[in-house]
Amino acid sequence: MDLRKIRRDFPTLNREVGGKPIVYMDSACMSLKPRQVTDALVDYYTRLGACGGRSVHKLATEVSIKYEEGRERHRRFVNANDHREIVFTRNTTESINLVSQCLDLGKGDIVLTTDREHNSNLVPWLRLRDTKGIVHVPFKSNEDNTFCLDKFSEFMSRKVKLVSMAHTGNLDGYTIPAAEIIKIAHDHGALVMLDGAQSAPHQHVDVKKLDVDFFAYSVHKMLGPTGMGVLYGKYQLLESFPPYLVGGDTVETTRYDSYKMLKPPAKFEAGLQDYGGVIGSAAAAEYLMNVGQENVHAHEVRLSQIITKGLSEIEGCQIIGPPSAELRGGINSFVIKGLEPHDIAMILDEVANIMIRSGMHCVHSWFNARKMRGSARASLYLYNTEDECRLFVDTLKDVAKSFA
Ligand SMILES: Cc1ncc(COP(=O)(O)O)c(C=O)c1O
Repeated sequence: MDLRKIRRDFPTLNREVGGKPIVYMDSACMSLKPRQVTDALVDYYTRLGACGGRSVHKLATEVSIKYEEGRERHRRFVNANDHREIVFTRNTTESINLVSQCLDLGKGDIVLTTDREHNSNLVPWLRLRDTKGIVHVPFKSNEDNTFCLDKFSEFMSRKVKLVSMAHTGNLDGYTIPAAEIIKIAHDHGALVMLDGAQSAPHQHVDVKKLDVDFFAYSVHKMLGPTGMGVLYGKYQLLESFPPYLVGGDTVETTRYDSYKMLKPPAKFEAGLQDYGGVIGSAAAAEYLMNVGQENVHAHEVRLSQIITKGLSEIEGCQIIGPPSAELRGGINSFVIKGLEPHDIAMILDEVANIMIRSGMHCVHSWFNARKMRGSARASLYLYNTEDECRLFVDTLKDVAKSFA
């Protein structure tokens, strides 16, 4: 991985604020965008600008071709069997909502999540509990937020209809043993959805090898444009789903009193689409595949090792999730006794342009259960450097000494 070359691709990293460089460590929230992605977007908006799918003129035809090339690129990105298994959405949240609204779940059916889910993989199930009487079970993690396969095996029964879990947690960076979970769930007749918002951008995901039924991810966390997401679903399952959003582009034909739905994925892509977004997201997927997702993961672990060591040297500092950087990838979430997470984030930003996230990271349920006010989270990506991590550690040590 040629880090210098990579950094040159990200214009934001070459900006200075107040005469100092930017140290961006908030990629779990949103990643920066390389030139290859913004060039693809600009190309769409300046050279094309037309719709896809509908008109037969040359511009529309080129957009349609590029739109479907984008789908094929995402098929390759997650190694799906068939491009028709890739549905474009706005983000992970919408992908999970689509599944929650379309799966045939009823009274008493259990949906199992972990106890450390983003609200996007919690609220849809709480809503179904309220509207349809499903039972949502937040499966308890080990003390260090890792996953206990033995307890999971014991818990599973035919009453569990869906296991829907964060593949990698945005709270702590921990990646669940997905392949084993999926095998056990399938043995009990349950479907499995992985929330891949934090895994797809940072590690190689192979939906075919995992045999996962649904996989949701957001393109804006993987170098792509904002407002773009993907739902992968096994074709027979998508085909069995009722319509979700309906209207133009979802139907083959209509009469005043009837309609005939198209097949997936068109069935779920209602109205004119974000053509620029899809074209930009194809460039993002290509960029990551060129770098190699394994290289991204290894790089992040190396960087997190520096941060982990630094955090362990700060009195009163506690890492959320497993202590080992290998198990947390690029996410370093922590609390320091006597310091508010938001204060940590604001001071780091103020004194050194170090940009991290603070608060509950949309995992309110986990923090509320522990009566905690949140954490500070430095989340890394392929463009971060060892020097940045050392600066982060040194500055944080100064902050802790002065304010804690
Ligand atoms: C694990 C996880 N799931 C779901 C989401 C929701 O993603 P989006 O806001 O792009 O829909 C996020 C966003 O931070 C996340 O980290």
